Amino acid sequence: MAVDFEDYIASVPDFPEKGIVFRDISPLMADGKAYAAATDAIADYAKDKGVEMIVGPEARGFIVGCPVAYKLGVGFAPARKKGKLPRPTVSASYKLEYSTSTLYLHKDAIKPGQRVLVCDDLLATGGTIAATIDLVERLGGIVVGTAFIVELTDLHGRDKIKDYDILALTEYA
Ligand code: PRP
Ligand code: HPA
Repeated sequence: MAVDFEDYIASVPDFPEKGIVFRDISPLMADGKAYAAATDAIADYAKDKGVEMIVGPEARGFIVGCPVAYKLGVGFAPARKKGKLPRPTVSASYKLEYSTSTLYLHKDAIKPGQRVLVCDDLLATGGTIAATIDLVERLGGIVVGTAFIVELTDLHGRDKIKDYDILALTEYA
C-alpha cells in the first residue's frame, strides 16, 4: 500500500520561534511502515545512479541516510559538527540565520571518484546540503544525487544546488 508521506510530517507552529512552522519528521520515523517506505523511495531513486557511499549531515541526515545505506548495501559517512570526529578532517562553513556553522568529514571518508548520494531530512536554505556537497567534492567524490524527506520551497534551497539531482518526498511552501 502506498504511503502518503505528508500524513507523517507534523507541522508545529511557532517552533523554534514565533512565526516559524516547523516540519517535524518524527511521526514518520515512529511508524515502521512509513519510515521503510521513505527509505525504499530514496533507495529506488538511487538504484540506477551507481551509488557507492551515502553521506548525511548531523543530526537528522543520519536518520535518513543510514537506512538507505543499509538498503543499498553501501557505506555511510557522517558529516559532523565541530569537535566530534577524532581523525583528520576537511571542513566547510555555511550560513545560518544569524551566525555560521561548520561541518566536518573525515579525510578518508570518501575515496576519489566514489559516487555519493547525500541525504538529509529537510532542504531549507540549502546551506547545510551545499556545505556537505563541498566536503564530498573536496575529497574527490562525485555527488550523483541528493535526497530529502521535506523541501521548504519558499526558501529556495534548490537554487543553491541547481547543478545536482534532487529528490524531495514532500514539499511545503
Ligand atoms: C536542519 C535540518 C537540515 C538543515 C536544513 O538541521 O535537519 O539539516 O537544518 O536547513 P538549511 O537547508 O537552511 O541548511 P539543523 O542545523 O537544525 O541540525 P540538527 O539536525 O542537528 O538539528
Ligand atoms: N523543520 C525541521 N528542520 C528545519 C526546519 C523545519 O521546518 N527549518 C529549518 N530546519
